[in-house]
Amino acid sequence: MLDALSKSFFHALARSQSLERFASRVGMAKPTSFARRFIAGETADEAIEAARAIQASGMLLTLDQLGESITTLTEAEAATQVYLTLIEKIRAAGIDRNISIKPTQLGLDIDAAVCVDNVKRILDVAKSHDFFVRIDMENTPYIQKTLDMFSSVWSQGYRNTGVVLQSAVFRAEEDAKAVSKMGARVRLVKGAYKEPSAVAYQAKADVDAAYVRIMKYLMTDGHYPAIATHDPRMIDATKAFAAEKGIPKDRYEFQMLYGIRRDLQTALVAEGYRMRVYVPFGKQWFPYFMRRLGERPANVGFVLKGIFGER
Ligand code: FDA
Repeated sequence: MLDALSKSFFHALARSQSLERFASRVGMAKPTSFARRFIAGETADEAIEAARAIQASGMLLTLDQLGESITTLTEAEAATQVYLTLIEKIRAAGIDRNISIKPTQLGLDIDAAVCVDNVKRILDVAKSHDFFVRIDMENTPYIQKTLDMFSSVWSQGYRNTGVVLQSAVFRAEEDAKAVSKMGARVRLVKGAYKEPSAVAYQAKADVDAAYVRIMKYLMTDGHYPAIATHDPRMIDATKAFAAEKGIPKDRYEFQMLYGIRRDLQTALVAEGYRMRVYVPFGKQWFPYFMRRLGERPANVGFVLKGIFGER
């Protein structure tokens, strides 16, 4: 109940343009500014610098250029170009070749055919340089459109890509089966968006129970699943299930977000698990940042301290 309230509150705040203007001015202004806890920087170069340090500590990476819900195809084209440049920069930097993209940033909401085209342009360049491209999942109105777009590129022979499914959403169990039968990879998350009760579990216990059910399915019937969570109970359930079924550590990976539960990230690497960190960057960081606050309201204290520190 508290979880749902906190998500609603922060998602409402995320729509405030004056708060966004204020936060954008101070949140990343200095190396110590509050948003830097969760965002690797405003530029690709800053993100690559942060990524190098993460890779040096034995972790894998996926880089994400923040931005979502654009309203013109010109913006979708600009985002596509940013990803094409990012691939070149990652290649030149010699770091892990993996990026995450958001369909609405590439035009899904405006023209699905243009979005498919933009994704294919990214996948083509990615493929020629041996990159993997993860397609993030946004809120429920976009799930079917995202899976349709994904099926379309998959059926055209693109294999250097995978999707994300959210255990909070009722349909995720069926989607996990369908995507796995196609032969594609899934990143399993709980779901970052506030969704209505008609389509998604509202109680944390139900979201967690679905997460464990889908994790078990993906570990046995999926293809190199990514278990993306900071929840020690989900991680322990995965380790225990892998041990019970004799699934080797190179058949799946754990994933966490930049700046969250770094203690757990380090511990998993020390135990010999594959651990990938999602490294977001860019000027459009406000909605992503607000979702992170909604997941753990204690983060607000940390932000307030940061704002007082700016003065
Ligand atoms: P849960 O929210 O239950 O948190 C478990 C524990 O983790 C907390 O008790 C706390 O210790 C810690 N924690 C979690 N969030 C924290 C935070 N913000 N600050 C500090 N501590 C925190 N979602 C989506 O809808 N579409 C997507 O494409 C993706 N992609 C994605 C990639 C990767 C690599 C990750 C790790 C996550 C996503 N998500 C996502 C986000 C995901 O859906 C979910 O919102 C967050 O991971 C939080 O859920 P947990 O599984 O961590 O559990």
